Amino acid sequence: MMDIKNLIIIVSYDDFCKQFLEELLNKHGYKTIFFASERHIPDTLYRTIPELVIIAVKETAASVCRAIRLLPDISRVPIIVLCESNDSSDRSAAFSAGCSDYVISPFDEVEILNRIEIHLENKRSHQWLRDKITEQTKGLTEAQMETIIAMAELAESRDSLTMLHLNRIRRYSKILAQKLSEDEQFHREITPEFSDVIYHASALHDIGKIGVKDGILNKYGKLTAEEFEIIASHTIKGSMALESVIERHPNSQFIRMSVEIVRFHHEKWNGSGYPLGIAGEMIPLSARIMALSDIYDAVRSKRSYKEAKTHEEAVEEITKMSGTHLDPRIVDAFVEIQEEFINIYEQIS
Ligand SMILES: [Fe+2]
Ligand SMILES: [Fe+2]
Repeated sequence: MMDIKNLIIIVSYDDFCKQFLEELLNKHGYKTIFFASERHIPDTLYRTIPELVIIAVKETAASVCRAIRLLPDISRVPIIVLCESNDSSDRSAAFSAGCSDYVISPFDEVEILNRIEIHLENKRSHQWLRDKITEQTKGLTEAQMETIIAMAELAESRDSLTMLHLNRIRRYSKILAQKLSEDEQFHREITPEFSDVIYHASALHDIGKIGVKDGILNKYGKLTAEEFEIIASHTIKGSMALESVIERHPNSQFIRMSVEIVRFHHEKWNGSGYPLGIAGEMIPLSARIMALSDIYDAVRSKRSYKEAKTHEEAVEEITKMSGTHLDPRIVDAFVEIQEEFINIYEQIS
């Protein structure tokens, strides 16, 4: 759809009126398209949005006005009616059909030009305001996202893994998603937006650890069954906290994916994971991708109870998990882009 600067569409049945308006407007730098009937307008308006519409008729303008307002993308375009009728019911019918201004003959050139300029100026300042609001809302969303991620870092830092782990996880998850999107099976689900959102949402996976006591989280040695249950509950605690945000922001893909990841990142492909023990494609794709990223990073990192392993060892462990713990197609994608995993691990450590 083209938005042509200074384009005015004129609808008039009257040749004299057409000539008068075209000469006047062209002389003052406006481009014009003329229609002798509103019936021919739709084809043009589907391709071109004018800056303003002038309806010049002898009597009732309301039906023409209504027909134009029904077209898509025209709702913010000013419509000026030039009419010979000074009948108050014609005027109010035209306003309720959506006209922005109503000028009664005889028409004065200066007045017409002034009214056009006022409406265009109004439209521009509304557009400026809308752009500003969009810009500020965007800033707010980013600020909110950063706050949530800062909380996630706080949750993980008690685990002494800090933000490096989160920064690597985000990048592994994004490149895995991008690689998988080349596959026909994932092409529809993994849009560029999906890859951007998983980059942010994957950092939240362990946010529920805020609700788990330090003593259990950092325990050296084997966990009792009860302690394991408490640690496993971080998936439910975290996702429940975020679900209340979904109620307020039901259209946020970021919050939706965050809940999937937080709740399901410990599920396994064969159904032996937790908290629900769901299997295969029942586990959301975002959580399946995230699970591989988390495992790779965990294997490569030193923990209080284990040494760091090499990339080759991590590849071997992950390949063994294909079809049991992990989705085989995601493991295949990982094997193909493993060099990038090495780079990310080396850059962020
Ligand atoms: Fe976790
Ligand atoms: Fe993690």
